Amino acid sequence: MRKSIFTFAILCLVVGVVSAACCVSLPTPTEPGDVPSATAGATLEPTDAPAATAEATLPIPGPELPIEERVEGLLAQMTLAEKIGQMTQVEKGSIDGRDIAGLYIGSILSGGGGTPDRNTPQDWAAMVDGFQTLALESRLGIPLIYGVDAIHGHGNVKGAVIFPQNIGLGATRDPDLVERVGRVTAEEMAATGIYWNFAPTVAVPQDIRWGRTYEGYSEDTEVVSTLSSAYIRGQQNVDGVTDLSAATTVLATPKHYVGDGGTAWGTSETYIVQQYMLDQGVTEVDEATLRAVHLPPYAEAVENGAMCVMASFSSWQDTKMHAHKYLLTDVLRGELGFQGFIVSDWGGIDQIPGDYYSDVVISVNAGIDMVMVPYDYELFVDTLTEAVENGDVPMARIDDAVRRILTVKFQLGLFEHPFSDEALLAQVGSEAHREVAREAVRKSLVLLKNEGDVLPLVKDTPVIFVAGSGADDVGMQCGGWTIEWQGAMGDITPGTTILQAIQDTAAESTVVRYDRAGNFAGDYGRADVGIVVVGEEPYAEGVGDRADLSLSAEDIETIDRVQAVSDRVVVIIISGRPLIITEQVDDWDAVVAAWLPGTEGQGVADVLFGDYPFTGKLSYTWPRSMAQIPLGSGSGEPLFPFGYGLTTEGAE
Ligand code: GLC
Repeated sequence: MRKSIFTFAILCLVVGVVSAACCVSLPTPTEPGDVPSATAGATLEPTDAPAATAEATLPIPGPELPIEERVEGLLAQMTLAEKIGQMTQVEKGSIDGRDIAGLYIGSILSGGGGTPDRNTPQDWAAMVDGFQTLALESRLGIPLIYGVDAIHGHGNVKGAVIFPQNIGLGATRDPDLVERVGRVTAEEMAATGIYWNFAPTVAVPQDIRWGRTYEGYSEDTEVVSTLSSAYIRGQQNVDGVTDLSAATTVLATPKHYVGDGGTAWGTSETYIVQQYMLDQGVTEVDEATLRAVHLPPYAEAVENGAMCVMASFSSWQDTKMHAHKYLLTDVLRGELGFQGFIVSDWGGIDQIPGDYYSDVVISVNAGIDMVMVPYDYELFVDTLTEAVENGDVPMARIDDAVRRILTVKFQLGLFEHPFSDEALLAQVGSEAHREVAREAVRKSLVLLKNEGDVLPLVKDTPVIFVAGSGADDVGMQCGGWTIEWQGAMGDITPGTTILQAIQDTAAESTVVRYDRAGNFAGDYGRADVGIVVVGEEPYAEGVGDRADLSLSAEDIETIDRVQAVSDRVVVIIISGRPLIITEQVDDWDAVVAAWLPGTEGQGVADVLFGDYPFTGKLSYTWPRSMAQIPLGSGSGEPLFPFGYGLTTEGAE
């Protein structure tokens, strides 16, 4: 079970001593390109601790009562400030610890890369427990809920297992496997005291130039619905039923509602690091298409117990989704019967046309229940307070939002078990967890070409040359949302590279030579097989919006060099989407789409050398040219159609 209240007392003592003895200095925010808030990085003078209140407070209704009664009993005691605090989510580097109780903050998050100073599971647990301890000091002691993007494993945490990104899971077409991926991810999150995951993305990407294509399971609505709901069950269920209060279940968050995967090229107005072209743009489809393509995964998610949905930055019919009362309230709540709470995206309300006061009024009245501010939380609290006092946001809307948030907090058991469970820490990155990820890698691989049945390779192939930007790089295998928001190349977290896996799987007698650039000329002689791993370096969100999906010149040159000194050449593509390979593919003997496989590169070698069969099927159409993007554009057949994938025999 999560830590007992005794631990709370110890933590209180520790935190009390520390925070009383010094000012709070705020590290800078975590996401690149962010505009730091006024307080970020500042050192603040000690402020008054939260004022003790004269009113006697009734005890919070205990777990023996139905949750509805507990919510009403608590809500009846809450001041406006306490209610608005519950609707406020702050980025962990931007909060003054004393404001957590002082402003009754209901949620804190780590954005991509929002790690503690020392990135270990233990330090994550200590950081989150520390914030929680401060929250429990508030007048009513309402626990906070901490959120992260554990979109392919607990990706910010060094040492956590990193699974294939959703595009790879889509190629498995295996709901049972995806459910197990969700469950393992939840276990690794719970070990760090984090019970809220901003995942799964249930986008149905229609234009693979989108930097978030890999967060989507597929271009096909049915595949997305089936697999995303399996993931939600894995995150939230015990023995087949939703039980958010269990020690190792977490709150899932289907996102980004709705139509984030259907935006039109060039309609985005967002600039972070670069001009976004698709991400956060306008979904230019009619209502029938929105309902047929993009909405069904949410209906399936609600039926599978989803209790949180994140709004999309995108727009539909000239209205930002964060301001879209029809879709947020009438459709999601009214038609689909969603009973949980809606969280905004990162500063998402700020993009609503108009000043900040109108942003707050419009978004909350449209149906946003919790605002991911994420920096200037005092401004948000003051603005929403003013809006309620002016009558621009009805108290009934505030009460509805707070009811939904408290309901989920009670369902999660946070009032009884607010802390991490150190007994779970040993599970983070465990062999058993890595085996699930290795299986997912195996089943995600799609064999696109296999001339002369060059695959599977025999393990005692005499000479194998290995080359390419992705051959020996865990960071490239993982892609975005790994340790850093944008991910990074290199040895960023413990894992097995494809090169290491090949070396470990080939026979002792096999000579495996590696050169990143493919320079094997000279005294190496020739290889029986050359394996070249190429593709995309990590990116996230609109930073990955790309106009041209051709292979880079560097990658093509590397392949050519290896081809010149190898009898057969196998190209493995590490990418967040299909790439344009039409001009080159005829020269290659075999092609494997490996997507973004994560830390368990051994899964690639398992299939490459025939211990397991190739079974993956494309969950996205593989276009012949850029003219065939977005989906359905251009003429002629794609290079490889949706559902395509060759199979091989496997020893298993
Ligand atoms: C980002 C993403 C969203 C993520 C959130 C918190 O901007 O759009 O998917 O959950 O911020 O990191």
